[in-house]
Amino acid sequence: MIAFRDPAMLREARRTLVRPQTQGLNLTSEQTLLVLGIETTCDETAAAVVERRADGSGRILSNIVRSQIDEHAPFGGVVPEIAARAHVDLLDGIVANAMREAGTGFAQLSGVAAAAGPGLIGGVIVGLTTAKAIALVHNTPLIAVNHLEAHALTPRLTDATEFPYCLFLASGGHTQIVAVLGVGDYVRLGTTVDDAIGEAFDKIAKMLGLPYPGGPQVERAAASGDAARFAFPRPMLGRPDANFSLSGLKTAVRNEASRLTPLEPQDINDLCAGFQAAVLDSMADRLGAGLRLFRERFGAPKALVAAGGVAANQAIRRPLREVAAKAQTTLMVPPPALCTDNGAMIAWAGAERLALGLTDTMDAAPRARWLLDANATAPGKFANTRAGF
Ligand code: KG4
Ligand code: ZN
Repeated sequence: MIAFRDPAMLREARRTLVRPQTQGLNLTSEQTLLVLGIETTCDETAAAVVERRADGSGRILSNIVRSQIDEHAPFGGVVPEIAARAHVDLLDGIVANAMREAGTGFAQLSGVAAAAGPGLIGGVIVGLTTAKAIALVHNTPLIAVNHLEAHALTPRLTDATEFPYCLFLASGGHTQIVAVLGVGDYVRLGTTVDDAIGEAFDKIAKMLGLPYPGGPQVERAAASGDAARFAFPRPMLGRPDANFSLSGLKTAVRNEASRLTPLEPQDINDLCAGFQAAVLDSMADRLGAGLRLFRERFGAPKALVAAGGVAANQAIRRPLREVAAKAQTTLMVPPPALCTDNGAMIAWAGAERLALGLTDTMDAAPRARWLLDANATAPGKFANTRAGF
């Protein structure tokens, strides 16, 4: 953490505290912007430096992610207190590495962005406070980014995807179908009524004795399993809304697993295959409904974009491609390292907002819950509602 020992620096810090960061910036989208991004909302400590050129294209100069898997693995899931402490220990070094690798100094930055939520509040506080300290010391704008917005805008960094597009965000904490209409302009078309998809993968893995994090383990086991052995339900199939539900399927897998206990390796593979197939069928149906809703309200989407950790699953690709083709749009999946949590997506979302003159003051609040479509331009104003729902 950065401490202010120099009285002049303290005075400057106080002055900046009460000054809206947009004043005197005179930023235009004509400039090339260099933004440091910090991500600490869950169990990845990450920092990156990204450049956004005047034409709207982007380049990643550095992208450092330190996963805390080893710290949490003995507990079979993320322990918030351990995560927050690990972020405190790791973040300064990771920021320094990101700056070094990018070959830049703090004085060259156009702004510093941090994920201000939604997420585990201890970690969010660590990242946002660090970003505020850097912004104060180096007199550079702060951008308090919604973590979900950062996932939503990533395809504009990787593929210059044009608005409007349909985002399928599937991670450990979120399952949403979102119409991405512009920076700060999002309409949620569907969401899960219970578990997030990644969360369901993780819980199934735990139930079957597979190590944490469960998603990749279940995918690996499913590859050697027989999906047809069990008749698992396909939740929400055929409903006109675009919502998801995973808890009934999870219970069906649990019942089958207890019936078969003690489980042989082949049982585990078959249960994983059956579970994954049911998730993919349900997902394809729900996304079909989401894309229909999108077209009715906003016309044809320029792309269907899949993001979040679950998008790293290879088996998901075929149904996603089919759904996109049926809706006469193209599928876009950022590379796996940019699908899972990272600093580049935060830096990029910060740069996109900065290019529009959208910055935050030092009183930007860390938020455990922060709905994407509650309008990401005014973080302080909105009710403390459940982020993933
Ligand atoms: O986006 P992410 O890195 O972090 C957040 O949750 O925000 O996503 C992590 C989630 C975990 O639940 C993990 O099990 C899941 O994504 N995941 C997968 C796969 N890889 C990661 N789920 C299914 N198949 C995978 N290959
Ligand atoms: Zn995420």
